[in-house]
Amino acid sequence: MKHLLKEKVAIVTGGTAGIGKAIALKFVEEGAKVVILGTRPENGQTAVEEIKQAVPDGMIQFYAADVSKTAETDQVFQQILKDFGQIDILVNNAGITADQLLMRMNEEDWDRVINVNLKSCYNTCHAIVRHMMKRGGKIINITSVVGLMGNIGQVNYAASKAGMIGLTKALAKELASRKVLVNAIAPGFIQTKMTEGLVDAQKEALIKSIPLGRFGQPEEIANMAWFLASPLSDYITGQILTVDGGMVI
Ligand SMILES: NC(=O)c1ccc[n+]([C@@H]2O[C@H](COP(=O)([O-])OP(=O)(O)OC[C@H]3O[C@@H](n4cnc5c(N)ncnc54)[C@H](O)[C@@H]3O)[C@@H](O)[C@H]2O)c1
Repeated sequence: MKHLLKEKVAIVTGGTAGIGKAIALKFVEEGAKVVILGTRPENGQTAVEEIKQAVPDGMIQFYAADVSKTAETDQVFQQILKDFGQIDILVNNAGITADQLLMRMNEEDWDRVINVNLKSCYNTCHAIVRHMMKRGGKIINITSVVGLMGNIGQVNYAASKAGMIGLTKALAKELASRKVLVNAIAPGFIQTKMTEGLVDAQKEALIKSIPLGRFGQPEEIANMAWFLASPLSDYITGQILTVDGGMVI
């Protein structure tokens, strides 16, 4: 099968671990030049080495940036454009949780989650929009089933992920005439560091609510990201694609 992302340059925010790293690997396997963004250079280097080992002739680089910061994001995107000459695909994957019942949630945990998960999408999309409007492109936002269904202890996270869904739909309408397609993936519960902390009783209860009876793997999200990044999805925009073992039906 031919490599559908050949000649493309892709940015994956939070690409140093979990779902983001799996997406970066898939894109490299499919021939893209991939830049992963993260806040911790040591994790970035480890991810780059792992991916280079898996795909020795692949092209992958790490740039340090906190995408919740507007000026920092602008600066790193300008640098990537200078270094690569183009950006074709943007995956907004960086995300955090700071779970707490609303009555106990402090302002800092609200702001941090909204800024890393949602404001980061404004920052990255704003930094790239003029460039993509000239040449077309694909934007893929990693939201969550929690943004569709809500979840106890996650008002900040659910609001940020529901916000990403609104952003996806509005931006898809704004940019369709310029051939910039904007879609979102809503993963269910995926086996990564983010879900590692759940206690066994929580995991068992969750698995009961998943018709396919298991957590997903990062690679299963990467497959959908690859489809949305590739020409196979050129007639799809403004959609929220749920990859969750049937949790939301
Ligand atoms: N794991 C799940 O069950 C699940 C379910 C639904 C949605 N998601 C979403 O998928 C995305 C990836 O989650 P994951 O499970 O791989 O988590 P993870 O914790 O393994 O990875 C998150 C990544 O984001 C990076 N990051 C955090 N803050 C950042 C910042 N300010 N700037 C740049 N990078 C930053 C981290 O360094 C890390 O690389 C998140 O947006 C998450 O909300 C995860």
